[in-house]
Amino acid sequence: MHLMRIALPLVLLSLLTSPALAYTSLSDHFLKLVPSGGDDFDIDKGKLLAPILIPRVPGTPGQVAAQEHFVNFFHKELPSWSIEWFNSTGKTPVTGDREIPFQNLLFKREPPWVKEGQSNLLTLVAHYDSKIEPKGFIGATDSAVPCAILMHVARSIDRFVTQMHDEMAALGEGGTVPMDMGVQILLLDGEEAFLQWTETDSLYGARALAERWETSYHPANAFYKNPLDQISLFVLLDLLGSASPNVPSTFLPTHWAYQAMAKIEHRMRQLNLLESKPAGPFLPDAEKKASNFGRGMVEDDHIPFMRRGVPILHLIATPFPTVWHTMNDDGAHLDMPTVRDWARIVTAFALEWLDMMEVEPNDEIPAGR
Ligand SMILES: *[C@@H]1O[C@H](CO)[C@@H](O)[C@H](O)[C@H]1NC(C)=O
Ligand SMILES: [Zn+2]
Repeated sequence: MHLMRIALPLVLLSLLTSPALAYTSLSDHFLKLVPSGGDDFDIDKGKLLAPILIPRVPGTPGQVAAQEHFVNFFHKELPSWSIEWFNSTGKTPVTGDREIPFQNLLFKREPPWVKEGQSNLLTLVAHYDSKIEPKGFIGATDSAVPCAILMHVARSIDRFVTQMHDEMAALGEGGTVPMDMGVQILLLDGEEAFLQWTETDSLYGARALAERWETSYHPANAFYKNPLDQISLFVLLDLLGSASPNVPSTFLPTHWAYQAMAKIEHRMRQLNLLESKPAGPFLPDAEKKASNFGRGMVEDDHIPFMRRGVPILHLIATPFPTVWHTMNDDGAHLDMPTVRDWARIVTAFALEWLDMMEVEPNDEIPAGR
């Protein structure tokens, strides 16, 4: 078995000129095995989504309930993933002198042999807090569904990651930087403004984390200088779960990654693996020309990372769902086929990014959900 990996800085450089290099597409067979999550996205009983369809305002019991949901899930079902908190506090324009807790949760799976600062990390991100107003706001698309999708991605890729690591270790292939790919999931807190969106009233958790990581230096001989540097791609999911989403390609440097995901969507539709019947593709911009990339973009949790040079793939429905920031952004207004299709597409993208054709199964996935 031959495992070929190219470290991302190299991939990025070469892909700017030659988009097909060093990236093996999943086979049709593998695409067919990608699980949808099924009933686990049920809004009343589904184990992934139902428990977080509650208000999740920082500093309230809903925040704690959401945290417990994530931590228990990884602790019980994905014990190979590390769990790390990144806690900060801050004042908001509406909560006076009280220090509000903003607590990011970081779940990470690296090759077992890596030293600090050695792995490049596919980084999948969503915010788990919900907006304080209107009272009782759930934020199903914003971003309970993206969080549940990332939990599904984690459990769906887990067995392949294990197999890959085991086979690499057996062949003595680990230990060089280009081979050492991992994945981390960041569930960020305090994305929403409390009063009105400004630089200081928004992105509380993301700002604190990006700032800290910038100065968290790895040992001098580490390949990557800090945790920001280790992020091979920062994939941010937001406002997903409504029918017929339109997710544009925003950033030219990562357009090739957008194209890879759009191709997965296209292939899955052709293979009849998707359930939704949208007016157009979720990801319609694969053919977008370099000259059409402008400066306009949606402010979101990627901003503090992007300003520090991290490559961003922003998966956000634009225009925003009509339920955006209203009481209608709840479970009942979700389009479940769309939710499950996103779960399939993002899972397939993660498998492809992590080069999992190397461990393509030749049978059905047992108990695939
Ligand atoms: C962060 O806060 C959580 C929830 O209050 C707590 O369980 C955890 O121990 C804290 N972690 C750190 C590193 O401070
Ligand atoms: Zn929002």
